[in-house]
Amino acid sequence: MMRQIVTTKNGGTEVLEVQESPDPQAKPGDVVVNVRAAGLNFADIMARQGLYPDGPAKPCVMGYEIAGVVESVGETVDRSLIGKPVVAMTHFGGQSEKVVVEERQLFPKPESLSFEEAAAVPVNYLTAWALLVVMGGLRKGESVLIHNAGGGVGLAALDIAKHIGATTYGTASPGKHDFLRERGLDHPIDYRNQDWLPALKQMTDGRGVELVIDPIGGGHWKKSYKALRTTGRLGMFGVSTASANGLKGKLKMVKAAAQMPRFHPLGLLGKNRGVFGLNLGHMWHEPEKVAEWVQEIMQGINDGWIRPHVDKVFPFDQAGAAHAYMEARKNIGKVVLVP
Ligand SMILES: NC(=O)c1ccc[n+]([C@@H]2O[C@H](COP(=O)([O-])OP(=O)(O)OC[C@H]3O[C@@H](n4cnc5c(N)ncnc54)[C@H](OP(=O)(O)O)[C@@H]3O)[C@@H](O)[C@H]2O)c1
Repeated sequence: MMRQIVTTKNGGTEVLEVQESPDPQAKPGDVVVNVRAAGLNFADIMARQGLYPDGPAKPCVMGYEIAGVVESVGETVDRSLIGKPVVAMTHFGGQSEKVVVEERQLFPKPESLSFEEAAAVPVNYLTAWALLVVMGGLRKGESVLIHNAGGGVGLAALDIAKHIGATTYGTASPGKHDFLRERGLDHPIDYRNQDWLPALKQMTDGRGVELVIDPIGGGHWKKSYKALRTTGRLGMFGVSTASANGLKGKLKMVKAAAQMPRFHPLGLLGKNRGVFGLNLGHMWHEPEKVAEWVQEIMQGINDGWIRPHVDKVFPFDQAGAAHAYMEARKNIGKVVLVP
């Protein structure tokens, strides 16, 4: 038997339970990985709150990413993989002692990273790569505004933007600014105690920036659109503004939906602006594309400019505390769960 973090129903952190389940078996083409570390993502919190439409029906085991050691392999898979340290994305279910994944989903764990650091790579860096490089087309000499720069995706985006050679602006709670400066953020902006848009405009001589990545959503996307310079792009990839338990969360989601911008083609054309959305969880049918991004990210780890930062590691039986830590905005970078 193995242990898993089960989201038993919608609710507060009390709905999370560690439960036992039979060990998974590898079918042909699959491998079983003994999980050493599993990433926690904001989507896991919103799923628990009942605000994540992509989440599986409850009770369910969340978890999009793991690092661990191959325990067994199914028919057709090379047995020399057994015992190898690996990293993988999981289509839910990652917050388990053991997971089954298709062999093609695995990539070798970089030797320079601990299991916890390796589990912090897939979701954060693939999301940031897609936003900045693939869809955002960020170029050297351009400027980017990274919202929640101190979060998991935020720090990943910062590494990538610095590597590209862009000027970086980032919103974050003020307690995170010193750390962000150390990580290379050029211009931290306190968005909790002031309106960030006039502050950004002032820092950019009224022009704004070429790229904004916004996981807050709702009416905030309208504001981020206003922060774009000519030829600017807005990447929308989350609705964290709705995060809350129970009815409050549902009402916040309705409000966020009502306040979302409606972009008109002529408006975009007239202003030389672009807008796009990203959902990494809707990329499962494009494994070749994602594998290419993984190769670039692995190269960045080898070259030392991709530096996954694990803030705190929680054992599975403290999953509730891990969720609460993120919901209280205490995390700088990644929160990781270990069996
Ligand atoms: N579309 C995709 O493919 C995709 C993939 C990964 C993540 N995402 C989205 O990206 C965002 C960041 O995800 P993450 O996993 O890296 O988490 P994260 O940024 O580490 O999340 C926690 C941080 O978000 C900030 N925050 C903003 N509004 C918040 C709220 N209402 N409640 C709590 N924290 C809030 C806080 O930082 P401050 O100090 O800045 O307030 C907090 O520390 C989320 O919206 C997530 O859904 C989307």
